[in-house]
Amino acid sequence: MGFVIAVDGPAASGKGTLSKRIAAHYGLAHLDTGLLYRAVARLLLDKSRALDDEQAAAAAAYALNLAYMDESRLRGAEMGEAASRVSVIPAVRAALLDRQRDFAAQEPGAVLDGRDIGTVVCPEAAVKLFVTASPEERARRRHRELVDRGDAPPYESVLADIRARDARDTGRASAPLRQAQDAILLDTTELDIDAALARAIAVVEEVRGASSLP
Ligand code: DC
Repeated sequence: MGFVIAVDGPAASGKGTLSKRIAAHYGLAHLDTGLLYRAVARLLLDKSRALDDEQAAAAAAYALNLAYMDESRLRGAEMGEAASRVSVIPAVRAALLDRQRDFAAQEPGAVLDGRDIGTVVCPEAAVKLFVTASPEERARRRHRELVDRGDAPPYESVLADIRARDARDTGRASAPLRQAQDAILLDTTELDIDAALARAIAVVEEVRGASSLP
């Protein structure tokens, strides 16, 4: 196994942007594992299947080929919510586990971000970060993004959505969102992306020590 950096955290915590920047900094491949769950939800919706149809969801997860999926149809808050709903199904999680582990096994290493990377997918990761921010700050960021895109839902409804997603992601029985015991907490409530990246790199450097990896 190469040098794996696991980045977990709640919705809109900035973990995706941060992971991409960490991967670019170290020249490592990056997998946004939320996209896998979003893709399963997309396949179900396209086939007019219910998001809690366990058999159809598991079949979609096994059949998944991200290369054939249009990422623009996976983005957006509704798909995040739909992904959160299919992600509670244990058979879906099981179907996606090997793919994530195969990705993590590549040399010289990889950055994976999600909810259960440090706890379940890559418990042996060299570095684990748990990226979070207050629900209000995450809602403010998400709201600003939506306004910039020409959409303007009330801030209160964005905050309510974030709280509902947090409750589902942390409350599910199978691989719930939680900070791994050996993960470093990175609270970005008061940090911009450059400051968060600098902290993350400092953590990675400490782990790498004098070694030449990656
Ligand atoms: O990171 P995201 O917002 O794209 O994730 C969408 C949903 O997918 C999230 O609310 C829960 C689920 N998910 C998960 O259960 N495990 C992961 N490793 C990544 C995402």
